[in-house]
Amino acid sequence: MARIPPIAATPLPGLSLSRRKAVFALIAAPSILTHARAQAPVSRRATPTQTEGPFYPVSIPRDADFDLLRNGGLTYTRGQACTLEGSVSDLAGRPVRGAMVEIWQCDHAGHYDHPGDGGNTDKSFQGFGRATVDAQGRYRFRTIRPVAYGSRTPHIHVKVRLGARELLTTQLYVAGEPLNARDFLWRSLSDGDARAALTVPFVPSADGLRAEFALLVVA
Ligand SMILES: [Fe+2]
Repeated sequence: MARIPPIAATPLPGLSLSRRKAVFALIAAPSILTHARAQAPVSRRATPTQTEGPFYPVSIPRDADFDLLRNGGLTYTRGQACTLEGSVSDLAGRPVRGAMVEIWQCDHAGHYDHPGDGGNTDKSFQGFGRATVDAQGRYRFRTIRPVAYGSRTPHIHVKVRLGARELLTTQLYVAGEPLNARDFLWRSLSDGDARAALTVPFVPSADGLRAEFALLVVA
C-alpha cells in the first residue's frame, strides 16, 4: 500500500510559505473551534464564607454610611486610613444590582463598638458601615487598615445583602500580614485559592492605603 505523506510535509504547489500557513489554518480551524467548545466554561468560585463573629451590631447605628472615618460630627484620625473598594458579582461575572455591602471592624486599639466588647471603642470611629453597589456592582468604603486584637490577625468583617436575603458573610485579611499564618480562622480556609480570595494587599495610594476586594456570590 502506498504510504500517504503527512500533510505538513507536503508542499502545496504555487503557494508561498505564508499562504500555505493560511490554508492550513483554514483546514485546522474547525477542529480548533470544536476543541474550544468542548472546554468547560471558566468557573468562578464563590467567595468563601467565614463566621460572623460576636460583634455584629445589636442595632444598626445612626451613622452607618460608607465613611467609617467620620462618626456623626466626629473625625477619626487614628490608624492607617484606607479606601476599601471592590465589586459584587454573581458566578457568571454579572454585577449584582441592588446588593448592599456591610463592613465592621475594631478601632485602632482593637475595640469593637459593641456592648460585648466592653464599650471602650473610640467614639469617633464608626465601626460599622453600609454601601449599596452602583450600576457596575462597585462599592467603596473609607476606613482603616485593620489591626490585630487578642489572638486574631487583622481582619475586616464583611456581609453582602440583597433585599431581605443574606448572600454572604465573610472576613477580609491583609496580604503579607505575618499573623495570618497563626490565625485559626485564616488557617481554617480550605486551600490556597480560598485564602487568596480573602487576602488582599493594602497598597499606598494618593489618599492613604487602598485595597480591592472582589465579592462573588450566588445571587
Ligand atoms: Fe473580628
